[in-house]
Amino acid sequence: MLTPVLPIAALEDGQMTALKVQGVDVLVCCVEGQFFAVAAHCSHARQSLAGGRLRGYQISCPLHGARFDIRSGECLAAPATSPISTFPVTLEGGKVCIEVGSGMGTL
Ligand code: FES
Repeated sequence: MLTPVLPIAALEDGQMTALKVQGVDVLVCCVEGQFFAVAAHCSHARQSLAGGRLRGYQISCPLHGARFDIRSGECLAAPATSPISTFPVTLEGGKVCIEVGSGMGTL
């Protein structure tokens, strides 16, 4: 189910925010005018990625430094080896809407 989570204007380029969507912890990121939603916890030791650094399309885990591509959830750097979930994002009525029911990868 598509869930409106925040106004499009709430995030600027290079910003992200952590939200709970239908009981799932999600990190919403804005990069170059596009929005992406990924699981808010690292696949290594479940550290919250909300305190991580977003650089381009990569988010780094604040605990041990694993990096993930927010477009695909792909793990780009150890010590994590598994991807993180990604969730479809739709922009509707000035809102960022996320579908958490179809996440891929590891929650
Ligand atoms: S918990 Fe994220 S790299 Fe270890």
